[in-house]
Amino acid sequence: MNLILLGAPGAGKGTQAEIICEKLSIPAISTGNIIREALKNGTEMGLKAKAYMDEGKLVPDDVVIGIIRERLSEDDCQNGFILDGFPRTIPQAEALDQMGIVIDRVISIEVPDDKIAARMAGRRVCLKCGASYHTEYKKPAKEGICNACGSELVQRKDDAPETVLERLHVYHEQTEPLKGYYEKAGKLRLVEGQEEVKDTTALTLAALND
Ligand code: AP5
Repeated sequence: MNLILLGAPGAGKGTQAEIICEKLSIPAISTGNIIREALKNGTEMGLKAKAYMDEGKLVPDDVVIGIIRERLSEDDCQNGFILDGFPRTIPQAEALDQMGIVIDRVISIEVPDDKIAARMAGRRVCLKCGASYHTEYKKPAKEGICNACGSELVQRKDDAPETVLERLHVYHEQTEPLKGYYEKAGKLRLVEGQEEVKDTTALTLAALND
């Protein structure tokens, strides 16, 4: 199954992608994670993307389209994949179509803006392995320390409250129109984000088959 997860920043796309990819045995591809990894490794692409990310803006389409074109050509994507954070603009969706990629289902996780702000304020991430936690909803076993690799947990720079507001603005202006794009194609399903991650997962899995 070729699946797209849409939703505002912090709606829970990454969390759901991580869970569903295990259930379906297909890779979850997060453009945000790929860009952060490139930045950590000091690549030219990562450095170019940094200024956009830090300000809560979208990285230019040609950069992310190039990333996805390359990633989807890898062997592990041949039986399906989950796209988390791509496409984010109509030109990115059109580029996917032009690559000949057929999308089976698009799930949009719906969470109101005021709830997003609280979720983002509590998110903590591991800079070493990329694992994500929440100070209330997904606590690590030891406060401030990653369960997976024992490194320190930090707040993402773009999770600062004023940057979150800008990311929400960008989402409503540039990404939300994708719901209409995929609705016309009959592929869109809306899932109301729940307080408990497992409840959102149950709704998402149901939406995959309906
Ligand atoms: P990216 O990393 O994709 O960020 P995002 O879309 O803004 O998404 P997030 O990772 O912030 O949120 P999420 O929906 O995955 O939520 P999560 O599951 O972590 O992109 C970062 C930047 O990269 C962009 O701003 C842009 O600059 C660039 N970029 C990336 N892709 C691009 C593209 N295609 N085009 C252009 N630029 C691009 O959940 C958030 C928190 O809430 C977590 O702490 C989690 O534990 C908690 N949580 C999750 N679910 C629940 C729940 N049900 N109840 C309570 N808490 C929950």
